[in-house]
Amino acid sequence: METTLAIVKPDAVAAGNAGKILAHLEQEGFTLRALRLVRLTRAQAEGFYAVHRERPFFTSLVEFMTSGPCLPVALERENAQAHLRDVMGATDVAKAAPGTIRNLYGTSIERNAIHGSDSLENAALELAFFFPQTERIAAR
Ligand code: CMP
Repeated sequence: METTLAIVKPDAVAAGNAGKILAHLEQEGFTLRALRLVRLTRAQAEGFYAVHRERPFFTSLVEFMTSGPCLPVALERENAQAHLRDVMGATDVAKAAPGTIRNLYGTSIERNAIHGSDSLENAALELAFFFPQTERIAAR
């Protein structure tokens, strides 16, 4: 079994779509292993997205990610990292396949409803960012 990190982003939480997105993930066979509702500080958002620091959208992304509460969640499933990326759809909502979470709930390339770790290596780092091992609940 693999565990990966998703963040239901501030746009989706503010729109009242967090529960629907969690239900969508559960229907895709993910088990919730840890869950928080957090308002990221600027330093936390800059740290989490440090890899994008030089990108033109970085300032706007940090602004957006600190604009309201978001919902980081540890998700367990076979092939969890790759499957979550499939279920989310493309970063750009306009290119996200029908029925994907970003297609259903995102509104722009930035306000795209959900984040998912882009590799197993980053999943480990991003899980540790939000959840110490002791906060993750054993599924069985
Ligand atoms: P995410 O998968 O969380 O990773 C980086 C985020 O930056 C991305 O989703 C979007 O929310 C945001 N973003 C804004 N503009 C762009 C862009 N042009 N390309 C990629 N990501 C962008």
